[in-house]
Amino acid sequence: MPPIARPRGTNDLLPADAPLWEWVLGTHAEVAAGHGYDLVETPLFEATEMYERGTGAGTDVVEKEMFSFTDRGGRALTLRPEGTPGVLRAVLAAHLEQERRPVRVRYAGPMFRYARPQAGRYHEFWQLGLEAIGERSPELDAEVIEVAWRFHERLGVTGVSLQLNTLGELEDRLRYRAALLDHYRPLRDRLCEDCRRRLEVNPLRLLDCKRDAALVAEAPEIGPSLSPESTAFFARVRELLDGAGIPHTLNPRLVRGLDYYAHTTFELWHESLRGAQNAVGGGGRYDGLAEVLGFPPTPATGYALGVERTVALCREQGLGPNPAPAWVAVLGIGAAGNRAAAQVARELRRAGLRALLDAAERRLDRKLAAASRQGARAAVMVGEEEAARGTATWKDLSSGTQRACAVDRLAGELAGVLEGAPVPAGGEG
Ligand code: HAM
Repeated sequence: MPPIARPRGTNDLLPADAPLWEWVLGTHAEVAAGHGYDLVETPLFEATEMYERGTGAGTDVVEKEMFSFTDRGGRALTLRPEGTPGVLRAVLAAHLEQERRPVRVRYAGPMFRYARPQAGRYHEFWQLGLEAIGERSPELDAEVIEVAWRFHERLGVTGVSLQLNTLGELEDRLRYRAALLDHYRPLRDRLCEDCRRRLEVNPLRLLDCKRDAALVAEAPEIGPSLSPESTAFFARVRELLDGAGIPHTLNPRLVRGLDYYAHTTFELWHESLRGAQNAVGGGGRYDGLAEVLGFPPTPATGYALGVERTVALCREQGLGPNPAPAWVAVLGIGAAGNRAAAQVARELRRAGLRALLDAAERRLDRKLAAASRQGARAAVMVGEEEAARGTATWKDLSSGTQRACAVDRLAGELAGVLEGAPVPAGGEG
């Protein structure tokens, strides 16, 4: 029988990669919390209708990429393709925006999209995100962008570019839609199949087409369709980013893949991420989403970053957490030694050391070799006689120096060795 394989488009996180992963998640939590964003968790699956109405029925995500199913009670459910609608639903259903505005929340977790798997693009992937709900201001748009920017700074990632655009208010978009239709309708025969459909369903998405790139380059920009208020709103966002020292590139073709955006939209790009998957993250303002989901109108803004892509960038640039703390192997010799070793390991851990117990029935030289190979900094050896005397022998595995000491002094001596201090002179054996 062939062994069971991992499902297509998914990843395992194995111990060798876990420290980098945890560091990325921890750093985001720290930076976001430092700006006042509190953790929320929402279900991995939600009503399919939420994404159809919120994310948008005409988007690729909803049209082609959802993992949808019917539960045993006949309810239409979908594994979340993104966090924003669920987080907004959770905040508004709990009336948090009535206690304070804006409600600042952050999240981290797996998302699911049935996109064609390739490097940096998976069926299951993780996002780090945040949402600021209940306030319509350019200040808040600039704030969420700043958190994303400071996060990359804290990681030390270089080469990220901030792409910025505005989609204005609904009336602005309607004017822009008309301008796009005027431009594209005469070109209908030259459009790809997808774009012909977009022309009918969602003309803004025409700008997203990679195949018709030449036509996209000639398409009108949104600027002339914007009202003076929308223009001023966007100018203020840019001014705030300038004030914060955050460089940005105006990108009038940036329409984003989801339907709910209004005003500011942005993406963080990195040229080293391959092909079309060069966006590390994206976000923007989505003032209309609450109403679409059946809640009172509530403005909001936020972003999400792809964790696999961020981790890939860190790896490529040699960034990561400090080396894992040094640890000590505690090796029992014989049955009585094994029992005593378990107690020694417990005491070392109580004293704050990282101690891994090897109480298997095998020879000491094998245990020592394994501890060295696995990277232990020191090994404590506990035999029957020593156990009876309340002593243990420990060995510095890098220098080979060996000494015996009373068990109650062990933690103190080892702490020095784990920190790289020279082995104390003298000794009892
Ligand atoms: P999004 O641009 O669809 O935005 O996704 C954000 C990020 O998730 C992408 O830039 C990318 O790094 C990562 N990502 C998306 N799809 C995949 C995939 N199939 N495999 C690996 N990584 C992927 C959103 O999801 C919005 N909810 C962002 C937002 C929050 N807007 C406002 N608030």
